[in-house]
Formats: sequence, C-alpha cells, structure tokens
Amino acid sequence: MDNKNDYYSNFTLSQEDERTEATALSISDRKRVITIASAGEIPICLYAKTDGEIIAVDSDIRQLYLSQLKYTIVKRIDEIDALRFLGYKKIESSERKNIFDKLINIFPKDLNNFWKQNKEYLYEGVVHTGRYEKFIIKKVKIFNFLFKNAVRQFLLTKNRAQRQVAFNKHFNRWYIRLFFKIIFHPRIFARRGMDPRSLKQRNKNQSVGLQYFNKLRNFCVENPIDENYFFQMHFSGSVNKDSCVPYYLTPEGVKKIKGKKDEIKWIHTDVISYLKHSEEKFDAFHLSNVPDWLTQEKFNELLEEVYRCSEDKARVIWRTLHVNYDVPDKLKKYFIRDEQQERNLELSDRFPFYQLNIFSIAKDC
Ligand SMILES: C[S@@+](CC[C@H](N)C(=O)[O-])C[C@H]1O[C@@H](n2cnc3c(N)ncnc32)[C@H](O)[C@@H]1O
Repeated sequence: MDNKNDYYSNFTLSQEDERTEATALSISDRKRVITIASAGEIPICLYAKTDGEIIAVDSDIRQLYLSQLKYTIVKRIDEIDALRFLGYKKIESSERKNIFDKLINIFPKDLNNFWKQNKEYLYEGVVHTGRYEKFIIKKVKIFNFLFKNAVRQFLLTKNRAQRQVAFNKHFNRWYIRLFFKIIFHPRIFARRGMDPRSLKQRNKNQSVGLQYFNKLRNFCVENPIDENYFFQMHFSGSVNKDSCVPYYLTPEGVKKIKGKKDEIKWIHTDVISYLKHSEEKFDAFHLSNVPDWLTQEKFNELLEEVYRCSEDKARVIWRTLHVNYDVPDKLKKYFIRDEQQERNLELSDRFPFYQLNIFSIAKDC
C-alpha cells in the first residue's frame, strides 16, 4: 500500500473498553455478534468471551489488516511475545524486525504481503502508529513536561480517595482546561489527530477539548491506574505489567482463542450496507462510535437495519462523543434503553470519554 502518511491508520489501539462492551452485550450468551473491527481489540476480546460467531466489519481496509494481524498472532503463533511485538510493551525496533522476519514464513500469504509492504509500522510497535495514537503521545509528552509536578503527585496516589483529591488539586485547573481546549481544537485535531469525518456532526458551540476534559475526572479517578492499560499507554506509552492488557492478550484469553474451532469473519464493508444486504439475524451489535460519523438520517437508517436484522432480546451498544441522536420515533418501542447499566458501566469503563448507549431489542411488542 502506498502510504504517504507518517501514521499507519486512524486507530491502532481500540479506544473502547472490551469489559464494558462484553458486559453490555451479555456476550457469553450470544450466538451471532456483529462488531466494528476498528483496531481489533473489541472483536478479538468478544470472540474470546463467547462461543458464538463473530462478524467484524470495517469500512477501512487498513483497520482490518491490523485487526487480522493481532488475531493471527494470538490464534496461530506460539513462538512470539505478542505484547512486545505489537508495542504494548517496549523493545528495540531491531528486535521487532527479528520477530517479523520469523513471522514471514508463518503468516497467511495475503497478510504477509501486506505487512511486508508496511513493515516500518510493525518495527515501531504497531499500536503506537495510529493517527490518534501518534497525536496523543506527542501531546502527553508536552503535558508531562508542562505539568511535571501535577503528574508526579497524581502518580503517587494509592487509592480512589487520594486520586480524587489529587485530581481536584492538580488537574482541575483553568490552565489544564485551556491546554485541552488548544490541543483538541478541531482545526488542529481534525488535521493531525482524528479522521475529520468523526468530527463533522459535532455541535460547533461545544469545545471538543472541554468535552474530553470533562471526562478526564472519571479516567483519572474511577479506576486504579495500575489496572488501566489505557491510562498507562496514554501516559507512558506502554503497560506496567504483562497482566494489565486487553483480555485477548492475557494467558486465559490466549488459551480460549487458540481453543476455538471457528474463526472471526473479517469483512471490508460499510456496516449499514452490510446489514441492508444481510438475511442473517444477530443477537448482539457492537457499533463502536460509528454514530459520531453519521448524519441523523444515516443513523436512523442504521438503526432500522439493526432492528430488521435483530433477534428478539438482541443487545446493542454504541458510544457517542459528538452527537446525541435519539432513536427514531417509529423504532422507540423496540429499543429498550438500559439506563441503569449505562450509568454503572460509565463509572467502571477504563476509557470513559464516550457516552454509552445500551439497548435491548423487543421484537414482538
Ligand atoms: C467509529 S471509529 C472510532 C474509533 C473507536 N472509538 C475505537 O475505539 O477505535 C471505529 C472504526 O469504525 C470504522 N467505521 C466508521 N464508519 C463506519 C461504517 N459506516 N461502517 C463500517 N465501519 C465504519 C472506522 O473505519 C474505524 O475503524
């Protein structure tokens, strides 16, 4: 692939917490799940947590190649240290090169050919090479430099009460809000950090930086730092311990993935058109924050297809940051919102920057 950018694709580490998605979907009971591939973590973790079938779609082929890379490494290859090769932990790029040289003979041919042409991203540790990830890591370096003392004090905290106090004292400051407003200013963010399509529908009167800042409290306070791989990856570029990783990379997750006979189906398509042409029924829908990328009209179309392709009692989750679309009137009685679960999961979510939207589908009412 001819890639003129210094980044591989839009996202190389899914910014969604697989625990949240798995709980919302009640994944262990599901038989057929449709999921957005994105950077791969969610479909692969859901696959490890269910006996059901997983269909992962994405409109961007690079996200699928990345997801398949992660999946193949865990599913088929025993010899390599996936955490370090993928970049969750640090190693020299020369070591990654040595690992990749060995993988060439083991990878399926199409994956092999693709990654041979894009190997420089693998040598960097692919989870750091997304447009969003590269943008954030640079900004975090500036943040750590400008607010050294605040960060140091915060990292010394040992429990929730201390994190709360440290957050209020050191982070909840006008100059940190200003920092957020500047770095996430849409003119900067949409050019360097985020696919502009995801910001197109946003409310122009709201500051994106303040939206992120307002969720920062939950990110910093609600979950222990040493159990949150998102926090660690954002602040230091690697996880602190091998056990603090997405489920698919834990020993238990790896064992489950290797033991499963069926495969994840990876499909390069737009989710709306996929559902439109589908005669299959699903009992779980993971829609990522695709609604942020859609107009209200397209969102309505998506939900109509979700409804048409759903089993009774199917579970649905999507996330939103920029839009606040309501379920269209004609579908309202079929989409039963689980507000209690939304509130609970928003508190335990390890990447709590999005609003959760969780529903059960009632077919016969
Ligand atoms: C919505 S984005 C947001 C990133 C996400 N929050 C994450 O954690 O990675 C996730 C993925 O959705 C894909 N996507 C966006 N619109 C889509 C659509 N209509 N159909 C299928 N995939 C879509 C993008 O290519 C991207 O890989």
